[in-house]
Amino acid sequence: MDRLDKLLTERGYGSRKEVQRLIRSGAVCVNEAVCKQPDAKINIDTDKLTVSGKAVNADKFVYIMMNKPAGVVSATEDRRDKTVIDLVPPEMRRPGLFPAGRLDKDTEGLLILTNDGDFAHRMLSPRKKVYKQYSAELNGEATEAMILRFEQGITLADGTKCLPATLTIPDPCQKNKIIVSICEGKFHQVKKMFAACGLRVVHLQRISIGNLYLDSNLTIGSCKMLTNLDIEDIFIGNIH
Ligand code: URA
Repeated sequence: MDRLDKLLTERGYGSRKEVQRLIRSGAVCVNEAVCKQPDAKINIDTDKLTVSGKAVNADKFVYIMMNKPAGVVSATEDRRDKTVIDLVPPEMRRPGLFPAGRLDKDTEGLLILTNDGDFAHRMLSPRKKVYKQYSAELNGEATEAMILRFEQGITLADGTKCLPATLTIPDPCQKNKIIVSICEGKFHQVKKMFAACGLRVVHLQRISIGNLYLDSNLTIGSCKMLTNLDIEDIFIGNIH
């Protein structure tokens, strides 16, 4: 059993003070009855909780898909910049929510936020071979020779050897627009891989993780909750 105000604070409905005000205002129902007592004892697994008529998610772990915009940092807090956590709607929040894998400040696209550390490890570990696909625009043309170099594993300028990656040029008339697929997440990896080939990435967007694709209906900067089926998509079909 948890105190009602503690539970709603943990689920992102505001500070303890704000939540207490919300409860006293009559916006919170427990098992269909208005509850105005912040210290009411709640069992989140059995009691039905709503805030302003909307059900409170009881799940311990959450998995959120975000269409990350450029200009925000993939961190939980930052002194200067807006973070991806700032973009998560209150009802999706949990204590310990973090971005599972970073995208650079100027990179857009698919980002998963969760409070499940084991899941994040499974998704990010290069040994698990979960491929992340990026769509990139370059300041020059990709070549067949580059495709081969990516396949063999690019060596970065500092001597770091990357695992084999797949580079594709979907439209032969636009060889500066490519798709790259990697299963590791070194700092600035895609940019550094192209830098090693003498090219600069001018736009970068992550489009998929495993078999989970960025939802084309998700506008830039918005989020949606993922289902267990969505999560399974991340781990199936990751044999490349
Ligand atoms: N590679 C990069 O260079 N940047 C990203 O944000 C992701 C992959």
